[in-house]
Amino acid sequence: MKFYSRYIFPYILDFLMSRSFFQSMRKNILKDVKGDILEIGFGTGLNINCYPEEVKKITVLDVNVGMNTRAKKRVKKSLKEVEYVVITAEKMPFKNESFDTVVSTWTLCSIEDVFSAMHEIYRVLKPGGQFIFIEHGLSSDAKIRKWQKRITPIWKIIGDGCYADRNIKEIILSEPFEMQTLQEGETKKTNRLFAYIYQGIAQKKYPQNHFEK
Ligand SMILES: C[S@@+](CC[C@H](N)C(=O)[O-])C[C@H]1O[C@@H](n2cnc3c(N)ncnc32)[C@H](O)[C@@H]1O
Repeated sequence: MKFYSRYIFPYILDFLMSRSFFQSMRKNILKDVKGDILEIGFGTGLNINCYPEEVKKITVLDVNVGMNTRAKKRVKKSLKEVEYVVITAEKMPFKNESFDTVVSTWTLCSIEDVFSAMHEIYRVLKPGGQFIFIEHGLSSDAKIRKWQKRITPIWKIIGDGCYADRNIKEIILSEPFEMQTLQEGETKKTNRLFAYIYQGIAQKKYPQNHFEK
């Protein structure tokens, strides 16, 4: 792993993503999560204090071991039990249908093979399970979209693999999810190239015979 990814980027990320505006978005989307929870791209652990009190245990993963140093401090201060694994979301070691909820915040932008990761998320969710997300991505404004595409090759270097121009809705719906809620739109709180936010809940459908007696 590159020096920048492991030792420098975690500090930059933590500084940028711990703003109170982001924290309130995190709290809002995570307020009702329940069951067996997996968070992908745990980063520096900024979601840990946004889970409801009733959530006692979370399984989390991140491909970058450097993130764990910052994350560990937060986890230690929280009252949650956290099982941390350093693996890629594109190939997870979990059994099919292991989790009630999978959480991803500002992570689908950074996973190189994001379609494989979506397939894995779908696979590890139980029928009826929820994929809960907040992501930045491709804008609805053509001018911004053009700049998002231009900037992505450079931004991927600065942002440790982050794409500015991903259509998050399309990526999520590449698996047979049912979108329960989706809010899309531009926030004024950050640079316009990263301000188009997709947040919501996608559900893995129950099999057709699920409700039959
Ligand atoms: C922009 S950061 C967001 C971190 C955190 N989710 C947050 O909300 O602050 C993206 C995270 O995804 C992780 N990541 C990138 N590619 C990954 C992959 N293939 N599998 C798992 N995690 C990955 C990065 O190491 C980083 O921690």
